[in-house]
Amino acid sequence: MQRLEWSPLLETGVAEMDASHRALLQAIHATIDADNTSLPLCIAELLAALAADFAGEEAMMDHLHYPADHDHRAAHRRVLAALQHALPVAQVDADAARTLLERLPRWFLGHLSAMDLPLAVAVERSAHPYAPPPGAQLRVELARLLQEQSI
Ligand SMILES: [Fe+2]
Repeated sequence: MQRLEWSPLLETGVAEMDASHRALLQAIHATIDADNTSLPLCIAELLAALAADFAGEEAMMDHLHYPADHDHRAAHRRVLAALQHALPVAQVDADAARTLLERLPRWFLGHLSAMDLPLAVAVERSAHPYAPPPGAQLRVELARLLQEQSI
């Protein structure tokens, strides 16, 4: 499986989102690479990191009265539920849990391009409402192109 490495193409332009996403991508790979004994603990830590990242984004959505917040929050809940399902599975069948975990990098890329980048555009525009289109808008298109590539 080809790894999704951090790249400037993955940056939203919102510093706190980018720092969190970079750490999340590392945590996803660390969990996939974990040995069977430490896999449940790694999944629990990844769940906590994802929940914290999502809480930060949802606070931004609350602040902005973001119109697409319902779908974005639902996407967060779905991936947390899937990962919570993987936790007990990992205790009895690490390979089955790892199969689910190996889908996370692609999920991350899809979520970033479809939901996080548009949120970043809204964050940037709220700070500078009369500025030209922010760089994040261009990165939405770049992320879409990146998503089309196999990882
Ligand atoms: Fe998100």
